[in-house]
Amino acid sequence: MPTVSFEHIVKSYGSLTVLNDLNLAVEDGDFLVLLGPSGCGKTTLLNLLAGLLEVTDGRIMIGDRDVTDLDPKDRGLAMVFQSYALYPTKTVHGNLKFGLSASKLPREEIEQRIAWAAKLLQIEPLLHRKPGQLSGGQRQRVAIGRALVKNVGVFLFDEPLSNLDAKLRTEMRLEIKKLHDELKSTIVYVTHDQIEAMTMATKIAVMDGGVIQQFGTPDEIYERPANLFVAGFIGSPAMNLREATLRVNGSKVTADLAAGMALDLTGYDFETAPQDGTRIIVGLRPEHFGVPDMAEPNAAASFTLPVQYTERTGSDATVYLSLDNQLLALRVAPDAASRLKPGTSVSVDFMPGKANIFDAQTGRRM
Ligand SMILES: Nc1ncnc2c1ncn2[C@@H]1O[C@H](COP(=O)(O)OP(=O)(O)OP(=O)(O)O)[C@@H](O)[C@H]1O
Ligand SMILES: [Mg+2]
Repeated sequence: MPTVSFEHIVKSYGSLTVLNDLNLAVEDGDFLVLLGPSGCGKTTLLNLLAGLLEVTDGRIMIGDRDVTDLDPKDRGLAMVFQSYALYPTKTVHGNLKFGLSASKLPREEIEQRIAWAAKLLQIEPLLHRKPGQLSGGQRQRVAIGRALVKNVGVFLFDEPLSNLDAKLRTEMRLEIKKLHDELKSTIVYVTHDQIEAMTMATKIAVMDGGVIQQFGTPDEIYERPANLFVAGFIGSPAMNLREATLRVNGSKVTADLAAGMALDLTGYDFETAPQDGTRIIVGLRPEHFGVPDMAEPNAAASFTLPVQYTERTGSDATVYLSLDNQLLALRVAPDAASRLKPGTSVSVDFMPGKANIFDAQTGRRM
């Protein structure tokens, strides 16, 4: 199956440049998610690959073929859109078949592919129904089926689940992931939903303002965000970001979080040598704190702060502490949250080796 690469891609609409010298390579069999806020250029990039838009400059390769100037139908890919417009008057079978009507395949081959896709997507019992007689999730499966029957090496998805309710979205997420595991095809999937990205992707390209902010595996992006944008965008509740000053004293490196509150950075894997006095932003994930019940023996920092309020979601809870008029979010077990009453003070630890340090000036990971 082919790799996909974007080389020095520029896309402008008149004087507005949406993508500027973008480079990205998708490995064979990867599930690449393009993740970013609304308007960052995800759909533009996907449509350039599909051939629905023309590049202003640069080259797109699929395998060893330069497809930059090829017609969409000659690129060897299939696309599933957010609005999956099925033909209301055709049956599911008719809708699947329609995707192949231009292909001049023998009838037998067409039927084989429809049967194969219907089985894989578990829509065999629905083949004779019309879209109006299907649930949202079933319709979405038919839309995916219409792409599957094309039997191509690369599938493109543009926010295919955003019209579904939360429960269905979770189910379809798992199904698309299973499909990828089975087909081992290359997938490029656009979403602004970080949970979709984290759960399905083998690689994520985090985009903002038409620029790829970070490209890596979900773990790399979560554990080592390359800059403040990625740090703030990935994670819910979001990473706590706090200004501080770096203190270097021999081999001892600490961050002054507040008066008398130092965070021990022993063991932090600095990408650039730490300089005493540098203004930094310290990133602390809500799940990396220990509250009294689960105190950290080797805590990187321990402090006592007042509880502002708590938020419970059933399986999970977030406690907000106040630190110099800023809120610090901590993820705790629900029963711990019920004991942490607003107005009381709580002593908390921060786990060693879990901080993220960014240069306050450039926003880059240090
Ligand atoms: N035809 C066009 N003319 C001018 N600007 C456009 C055109 N199409 C898109 N844009 C602009 O290009 C930028 C990227 O748009 P794009 O549709 O790629 O965003 P997106 O990341 O897919 O966002 P969303 O999550 O909202 O779908 C936006 O600022 C948008 O306004
Ligand atoms: Mg879009």
